[in-house]
Amino acid sequence: MSTLTPPSPDPPPPSVPSPLTPHTNPLIAPSIDPAEVAYFEGLAHRWWDTEGPFWPLHKLNAFRVLYLRERLSQTFGRDPAADRPLTGLRLLDIGCGGGILSESMAKLGARVTGIDVVPKNIRVAELHAQGRGLDLDYRLTSTEALAQDGVQFDAVLNMEVVEHVENRPTFLTACGALVRPGGVMAVATINRTLAALVIAIFGAEYVLRWLPKGTHHWRKLVKPAEVLADLGDAFTLVHHTGVRVNPFDRRFHFTPYLGVNYLLLVQKQPPEA
Ligand SMILES: C[S@@+](CC[C@H](N)C(=O)[O-])C[C@H]1O[C@@H](n2cnc3c(N)ncnc32)[C@H](O)[C@@H]1O
Repeated sequence: MSTLTPPSPDPPPPSVPSPLTPHTNPLIAPSIDPAEVAYFEGLAHRWWDTEGPFWPLHKLNAFRVLYLRERLSQTFGRDPAADRPLTGLRLLDIGCGGGILSESMAKLGARVTGIDVVPKNIRVAELHAQGRGLDLDYRLTSTEALAQDGVQFDAVLNMEVVEHVENRPTFLTACGALVRPGGVMAVATINRTLAALVIAIFGAEYVLRWLPKGTHHWRKLVKPAEVLADLGDAFTLVHHTGVRVNPFDRRFHFTPYLGVNYLLLVQKQPPEA
């Protein structure tokens, strides 16, 4: 006589690894400052308003995209004059906000992943890209969590973010881990100098009122040498420049002076031959 055994329950469906559900909460990370998250969450609906609080980033964007087009083409042996010179390159935009820079890089042909720690930013970025038929991979995650996944990119863009994080060394170590050997990272931020305090904080936030008061905090500004020290010996400085804005016509220019806004391009040691 056969024993009747209760039917075994259906096996659980194979788990689909999702970048949004790693093993631990990707939004608990040393680099995240809850005050910054609240600040950007409150402005997120204005990312694509070119007259709104992010107008300086929109103005800066055209300028920095020319720079990245030149430099990334040079690094990866592409023709900068081509329509889509970055075709096929895997690019990570850290702190992508509403996607201003990510979209521009996707239009140059790059396969762009954009990450941010502010939920509304990612929703705005996704909706904007969908509305334009652009295929971008946006993820709500921290740099540390993505680095733990072991993924790497040809180029990492770290633009106007370092001055908003807590625990900068941990953040930059994770950023560095996300660059593949031989790949590059661009870091744009604000120096911790008296000139930056006067121009970038007092001037831009209190006199010209180009940015909301409290956008930047002196203690979080970063010296170029600190960026390089945090990234460690695996990285070599390839290029550096200062960036300044003309307060009258609001145009951006390069300058050899790194004392206020600056941009560094660093390269990770290529693999041993
Ligand atoms: C000034 S915006 C720059 C946006 C964009 N990178 C650009 O240059 O157009 C700073 C961005 O960094 C994000 N952010 C703040 N803290 C972060 C962190 N710990 N990790 C990643 N992104 C962060 C903010 O949510 C915001 O989108």
